[in-house]
Amino acid sequence: MALHRHGSEVLPERRDISGSVVRSYERLRTRRGRKLGRFTKRMLSLALLFLIYLLGFGIKLPFHGSHHGSGLKVPVRTKNKQRKQHFPCEAGFAKSVDNLVEPKDFMNFTQFSIRYIDREEIISEHGTFEPRFGGHQTLQERENSFYARNQTLHCGFVKGPVGYPSTGFDLNEKDREYMNTCHIVVSSCIFGSSDFLRRPTSKKISDYSKKNVCFVMFMDELTMEKLSSEGKVLDGEGYVGLWRIVVVKNLPYTDMRKTGKVPKFLPHRLFPSARYSIWLDSKLRLQADPMLTLEYFLWREGSEYAISNHYDRHCVWEEVLQNKRLNKYNHTAIDEQFQFYQSDGLIKFNATDESIPLPSYVPEGSFIVRAHSPMSNLFSCLWFNEVDRFTSRDQLSFAYTFLKLRRMNPKKPFFLNMFKDCERRALVKLFHHRVDGGPPTTFV
Ligand SMILES: *[C@@H]1O[C@H](CO)[C@@H](O)[C@H](O)[C@H]1NC(C)=O
Ligand SMILES: *[C@@H]1O[C@H](CO)[C@@H](O)[C@H](O)[C@H]1NC(C)=O
Ligand SMILES: *[C@@H]1O[C@H](CO)[C@@H](O)[C@H](O)[C@H]1NC(C)=O
Ligand SMILES: *[C@@H]1O[C@H](CO)[C@@H](O)[C@H](O)[C@H]1NC(C)=O
Repeated sequence: MALHRHGSEVLPERRDISGSVVRSYERLRTRRGRKLGRFTKRMLSLALLFLIYLLGFGIKLPFHGSHHGSGLKVPVRTKNKQRKQHFPCEAGFAKSVDNLVEPKDFMNFTQFSIRYIDREEIISEHGTFEPRFGGHQTLQERENSFYARNQTLHCGFVKGPVGYPSTGFDLNEKDREYMNTCHIVVSSCIFGSSDFLRRPTSKKISDYSKKNVCFVMFMDELTMEKLSSEGKVLDGEGYVGLWRIVVVKNLPYTDMRKTGKVPKFLPHRLFPSARYSIWLDSKLRLQADPMLTLEYFLWREGSEYAISNHYDRHCVWEEVLQNKRLNKYNHTAIDEQFQFYQSDGLIKFNATDESIPLPSYVPEGSFIVRAHSPMSNLFSCLWFNEVDRFTSRDQLSFAYTFLKLRRMNPKKPFFLNMFKDCERRALVKLFHHRVDGGPPTTFV
């Protein structure tokens, strides 16, 4: 295991030697990071010498071994390209929550009603049917689901026929009842002990929000046990600080990162009464008031969905390369997804095109602010379905999903606010993911 730099964030990963040659390194921030950093630098120097040696003898390095796909090839990257530093910038929040008024009719949001497939009864030809959390959406159903109109679509939580086992993400009744009462939600998750529990900065959270906002942290039983063993003990009501801990049993995917996409994309399913939600990745500590956050990103902008753009990359082509460089996912699976998208109209990001609908085609999706409006909910379902069908790398499917939704509904606007990443940095404190990890995330 080594630490690899991802923009200005350090992500732990496991990877092979040939992969580590192509990464660049920088001084790592944490003490543990620094030690490892020195170690990896030494490794890098050795690897570089080896590379020069190989090049000198005209031998080709096999990159990523058998992971070769038929799409983009990962170019050889040698030594450090200077990495950009990323700083927060001012987000002009209102001074206090006292005079906030939720706009009643500013919302010219597209209206329609969506319902969700609750159960699938398909019995396959061979008489075997394996229920899946995401269901078995056909390509035709997928195509139709992009129309912003009254419809019933797949959006996770699909049960099998009566008598079949649960498809996962099981919650206890008490948590469910609590979640049903939430109107405004801040949520996050830790699956597979991949992170520490980071409490929102209490003094930045207004009394109003403490009283009226549900802060819910989803985690699996193992993570719960690990945190308990480290002294993070629930109070009598099931809270650690502001977080109400909700334990999820029977995880729907073996890939923990995929499981993490359930609370990330489907807060409108988990909190059926909620009108607004804020998602934050477990590597972030919230240091902004949720109500002020809604006002700033949604109400003031007249938007129904807010997500930040990526600090470095704007084109899905670059994102695909980066995912392969960092060995984020099975390369063949990435290529299959990428090729599917290209054949269905995904084009490169063109910064000089003034009619470009988004400031970037690559999001930094660790912080998402949503109104639970029809378009926003539809987009969330569609994006989730892409992650369910293809890879869990949601940066790869964001622009495709957004552009297809727009293309198929030219008269029905979706008010998406893609804000600057530096604003995200102003609202949250960034940490490194936990390094000692629990069980490794499965490489699917
Ligand atoms: C909403 O739509 C109405 C009618 O089309 C228009 O008069 C109004 O200005 C719109 N409001 C906003 C905030 O776009
Ligand atoms: C869509 O559903 C809404 C609410 O259920 C209903 O009022 C409306 O008439 C439906 N629209 C169409 C076109 O069926
Ligand atoms: C990678 O993905 C391809 C295509 O989805 C699949 O056939 C293959 O088994 C996967 N390889 C690994 C190691 O999971
Ligand atoms: C990018 O957009 C500009 C302006 O519309 C256009 O002239 C140019 O050809 C586009 N570039 C590519 C590579 O499509």
